[in-house]
Amino acid sequence: MLHITVAGTGYVGLVTGVCLAEVGHQVTCVDNNQEKINLLREGISPIYEPDLDELIVKNVEKGNLSFTTDSKNAYAHSDVIFIGVGTPENEDGSANLNFVYTVAKEIAESVEQDCLVVVKSTVPIGTNDKVEAYMKDHLKQNVKIEVASNPEFLAQGTAVRDTLHASRIVIGTESETAKQILMDVYEPFKQPILHMNRRSAEMVKYASNDFLALKISFVNDIANLCERVGANIEEVTNGMSYDERIGNRFLNPGIGYGGSCFPKDTKALHWLSEEQGYILRTVKAAIDVNEKQKYTLIKKARNDFPTFKGLKVAVLGLTFKPGTDDLREAPSIPNVRMLLNEGAEIQAYDPVGVENYKKLFPDQITYKSSIEDALEDADLCFVFTEWQEIKEMDLTLFKKKMKTPFIYDGRNCFDLNEVKGKGMNYYSVGRPSIMEYYVMDEVHA
Ligand code: UDX
Repeated sequence: MLHITVAGTGYVGLVTGVCLAEVGHQVTCVDNNQEKINLLREGISPIYEPDLDELIVKNVEKGNLSFTTDSKNAYAHSDVIFIGVGTPENEDGSANLNFVYTVAKEIAESVEQDCLVVVKSTVPIGTNDKVEAYMKDHLKQNVKIEVASNPEFLAQGTAVRDTLHASRIVIGTESETAKQILMDVYEPFKQPILHMNRRSAEMVKYASNDFLALKISFVNDIANLCERVGANIEEVTNGMSYDERIGNRFLNPGIGYGGSCFPKDTKALHWLSEEQGYILRTVKAAIDVNEKQKYTLIKKARNDFPTFKGLKVAVLGLTFKPGTDDLREAPSIPNVRMLLNEGAEIQAYDPVGVENYKKLFPDQITYKSSIEDALEDADLCFVFTEWQEIKEMDLTLFKKKMKTPFIYDGRNCFDLNEVKGKGMNYYSVGRPSIMEYYVMDEVHA
C-alpha cells in the first residue's frame, strides 16, 4: 500500500487528500496551521465545501486519513508527497512560489526513503524542473527523489465531485517509474488519465483556466455590445450554444470572473509569456475586459444617481460565486469599496459569505440576515452573486421593501418576463432594461 502525504490543507490540498483517502489510499494531510489541524481532527473542514466534512469524518473513522502539523515525520516515510499549497499573485502579476519552495525544502531535508513529489499547485511552466533540482540540492539522505506534475482542475463549490469524477487526470512525468506510481495512485478513480511531459502538464492547467476566462470575457464583451444594439445576450448565447464546437457552458455574462484561479492564472501566464519575449494578446484582452466589467453595474447606476452619497444601498450576494464562502477577487469587493468611499450606506445579505466579509469590512457595512431586511428602505440594490435563494426570491419584495426600486443585477438572476409588471427599474447585463418605476409613478400621479 502506498503511503501518501499531502502538504497544505487549502482547497487543492485538502480535497485531494480526502479524495485519495476515499478511494482507499493511506493519506496524511499536513499543515503548519495548528488551528486548522485541530478543526480537521474534529471532523470540521476549515473551508465551506459541499460533502467535504462527511468524507473527512468517514475516512478518519476508517483509518485512511489523518492530520498533523508534524510534517517532518510525515515526509520521512512517504512513498508519494503531493504539494497542494497556494501560489498567490505577486504585485507584478507573476506567481508567488514561496510556499512551494518552503515545502520542497522541508521535504528534501526530511525524506528518509525514495519518494515521488507531485506538484498539484498551479505553477509556471518549468517550475517542476526547478523544484526537482532544488530538492536534490537540499537532500540530507542518500535517497532518490523525483518530481511529477499533476495539475488540479477542481472548481470551488463542486470540488469533491470534480475530484472524484474528474473530467481527466493529467500526469506530467519524466520517467517510467514516476508515471507508473501515479498510474497506481489514480487507478481507483477510473477516469481518463493523460500522460505527457512535465512542461506540457503545467501548461494544460494554465491554458485550460485561461481559455475559460477568455470565454467569459468574450461573452461579457458581446453582452456589452448587445446592450448597445438592442440584442439580448441570453438569446444570442442560446443561439450560439447549438453549435457543439461552442457548447453551452461558461457563456454567462455578468460582472466578470473572480475567485482564486482565473484572475491570478491569466495574469501569471501573461507575465510568463512576456518574460519569454512573447505577448499573449488574447489572454491580455481577457484580463482587460474583466477589469472593466467589474464596474459595469456602478456605471449603469450612475445614470440614475449622480452620487451615492447618503444613499441606502442594498447588496445581495458577496462571494465570487455561489456555493462558496470564498471572497478572493470577488467583484463585490471593489464595488462595495467604491460605494463606501462615496459615502453610501450599505446593507448587505449573503447566505454564507458574511463572516469572511466582516474580516474585510467589520464596521462599515450593516449585515442583514435576510434578503428582505437588506432591501428595507433602500434607494437602490446591487446583485453581485447568483445564489439560488436570490434567484428564487419573491420579486415583489423590491417594490414593497425599497424606497425606490432601482435594481442592478450583475448576474442576470431573474427572467425578464418575471420582472415585468413588478413596478421596478431593472438593469442586468446584455439584456434590455425594464423601467416601470417611473412609468407607474406617472400613472399614479
Ligand atoms: C475555476 C475553474 O472552473 C476550475 O476548473 C479551476 O481548477 C479553478 O478555477 P472556480 O474559480 O472555483 O474554478 O470557479 P468557476 O466556477 O470556474 O467560476 C470562476 C468565476 O467565473 C466566477 O466568478 C464566476 O461567477 C465566473 N463565471 C463563470 C462567469 O462570470 N460566467 C460563466 O459563464 C462562468
